[in-house]
Amino acid sequence: MVFKWLPLNTTGRSIVPQIIFETEDGQALIVNTEAEHLMQAALDHEIPGIEGACGGVCSCATCHVHIDPAWTELVGPPNDFEAALLELEDQFKLCSRLGCQVKLTPELDGLKVRVATGAS
Ligand code: FES
Repeated sequence: MVFKWLPLNTTGRSIVPQIIFETEDGQALIVNTEAEHLMQAALDHEIPGIEGACGGVCSCATCHVHIDPAWTELVGPPNDFEAALLELEDQFKLCSRLGCQVKLTPELDGLKVRVATGAS
């Protein structure tokens, strides 16, 4: 696996939290973000495979990720609507979440997720 550090978001402000995105081709892209949600952090850093086509209203699943098992409890489960959409996805797993529904908090510093959209 290749680790690659990506630059700060465009605000250049403080660095909380740090997220590790594993792409579908095996790269580990490490980003520092002030984004409110995981999907926006991915878009801010042009993470391959994350499109966010619906703008974060939980209707497209182009922000599908697998949460690393070490983080699933802290991230929490999807709500019923999100779970119903995820279950239609080819790459659905019990650790699946939609990035637009994962609110980033300082407690998620170091979060590791794998892109699961099949689009990269
Ligand atoms: Fe469409 Fe997340 S951006 S479901």
